[in-house]
Amino acid sequence: MCGIVGYAGTGPAIPVLLRALKDLEYRGYDSAGIAVLDPASTGIHITKRQGKISNLESALHGTASEATTGIGHTRWATHGKPSDQNAHPHLSCNGEVVVIHNGIVENYAGLRAGLIAAGHRFESETDTETIAHLMEDRLKAGDTLLEALRQTALRLEGSQAIVAMAASEPGTMVAARVGNAGGVVIGYGAGEMMLASDLAAVLPLTQDIAFLADQQLARVDRAGADFIDAAGNPVEVVRRKVPIDPVSALKGEHQHFMLKEIMEQPEALSDTIWSLGTLAPAELYFDDLGRALDRLAEVERVVLIGMGTSLHAAMLGQRYIEAFARIPAETDNASEFRYRDPVLGPGTLVISVSQSGETVDVLEAMAVAKAKGALQVTICNTEGAQTTRVADGTVYTRAGLERGVASTKCFTASVVALYLLALKLGLARGTIAPGELQERMQEVARVPEAVARVLRQAPVYRRMANRFATTQHLLFLGRGLAFPAAMEGALKMKEISYIHAEGYAAGEMKHGPIALIDANFPTIAIATRHALRSKIVSNIEQVQARGGEVTAVVTEGDDEIARLADATIAVPEVSALLEPVVASIPLQLLSYYVAVQRGCDVDQPRNLAKTVTVE
Ligand code: F6R
Repeated sequence: MCGIVGYAGTGPAIPVLLRALKDLEYRGYDSAGIAVLDPASTGIHITKRQGKISNLESALHGTASEATTGIGHTRWATHGKPSDQNAHPHLSCNGEVVVIHNGIVENYAGLRAGLIAAGHRFESETDTETIAHLMEDRLKAGDTLLEALRQTALRLEGSQAIVAMAASEPGTMVAARVGNAGGVVIGYGAGEMMLASDLAAVLPLTQDIAFLADQQLARVDRAGADFIDAAGNPVEVVRRKVPIDPVSALKGEHQHFMLKEIMEQPEALSDTIWSLGTLAPAELYFDDLGRALDRLAEVERVVLIGMGTSLHAAMLGQRYIEAFARIPAETDNASEFRYRDPVLGPGTLVISVSQSGETVDVLEAMAVAKAKGALQVTICNTEGAQTTRVADGTVYTRAGLERGVASTKCFTASVVALYLLALKLGLARGTIAPGELQERMQEVARVPEAVARVLRQAPVYRRMANRFATTQHLLFLGRGLAFPAAMEGALKMKEISYIHAEGYAAGEMKHGPIALIDANFPTIAIATRHALRSKIVSNIEQVQARGGEVTAVVTEGDDEIARLADATIAVPEVSALLEPVVASIPLQLLSYYVAVQRGCDVDQPRNLAKTVTVE
């Protein structure tokens, strides 16, 4: 959840750390801080501030530091409220060790009590500070910095990514990764090194990188890095070059990353579709499916898992697999799946959907699936992310870096990737004839242009946002494939505009939610051509009979619903299974414009973070 960065070089560390923290701010933004270590050994200097990076930047303004090594952190609070004191980095009481951390020290209360009894003084309420004091004791006992971190990590319960520096070893940073609290990527520059929780923070310096695996530690100075495992044995960590263009991280002409990313969907969809298949001849590739590829024909059952928006994509994937592969498929929330002792076997394929590939509940659910011997494929937008290293095979979406906390282009890209994977499964099982593939590929090929047509209507949705900007509540209704789209529409609305929004299967209406309807509780109903349209027409009438106002998402040319509803959103016609992709676009735009009108922080909504690496 938090963002971590470190730098060791020959030039000043502070500008590099600040730049990288801005790249990481989407991960957590309740406070930020940096610590630098002066080569002249005047000790560790820490600056930290509650609030956004800009507060830290102002605090550092005019600081002429010669320090060439430093670490920085942007926080999403778990233990202790957001404040200057609880912001990272945290210093040991003798001022010798400084630590930044992502994750939760689950046994911190006991450790803290023991440390206080032994004479340590705590400055913050955080679990992280215990790490600094434990390391101080190890250094006093004569350990090197790396050994002090290794010994300390062995005493911590939970998943962690930790980075530390010590005044006794200037020019050096050490890092440890335990479990799935967040990755650590190490970047190799020319005479300078970086480390960070995200690849994006390292890319401006270098594309030559290495990932720390679970239970690995690193010692990094400006000349390079050495690695050990949790037992202290040296290990080799593979270096590789990554092909990601950091320019795609810029907002361009748009006011917010979210709008930019909504607008990028035609390209994101095309890139995803055509990285996985061709139209003439109609073929599917799936180059990264690895050992899963040859086992698709044996799959008897599929379980799809994910969280939030990715869970909604998974719900659509379930329908695609049932349609094309004709095998039982179910969807589960990864945080529920991991604790319910699921029944899985070698004939089960678990498909995880995670754009970041770093979501802790997804990773833990994958660990459960692995222990039970299930075949695993992950749908991911992030090259080399943790999920891709656990799964037997990966289907990469090619949406480019998504920076807005609210997922948009990664959602639709995941949906089309699942559509193509379901086709692949159908081909492997013989439930899709090679001749049918051509037709299905033509259908998916039409989607990017249909999405582009909706996007050209953006000014219409900006005006329509007036209808909803002052409402307190909103109901999203859908049936069949439109149900996950309704859930996603509600999630987008609530997370960025803070309007209470519910996504419901329209058939559920009469079983409770209809009691809420009155003139102050508007409904958005997805009533596209194939979404059990006639049934949803009756739901619209039932809402209106209770004084509720209905905005309907319809297929272009559907005049009957246009006459019935209070307002309509018309989207181009696409094939039945792909309707939810196109119907989701106006809902994303509407959420965006409503949030802007309400003055909300669209790219960094309150209480949220882009990558959820804590439970
Ligand atoms: C909502 C949103 C979240 C994520 C969820 C899973 O707009 O972005 O609900 O979908 O946190 O994230 P990933 O896909 O990275 O596993």
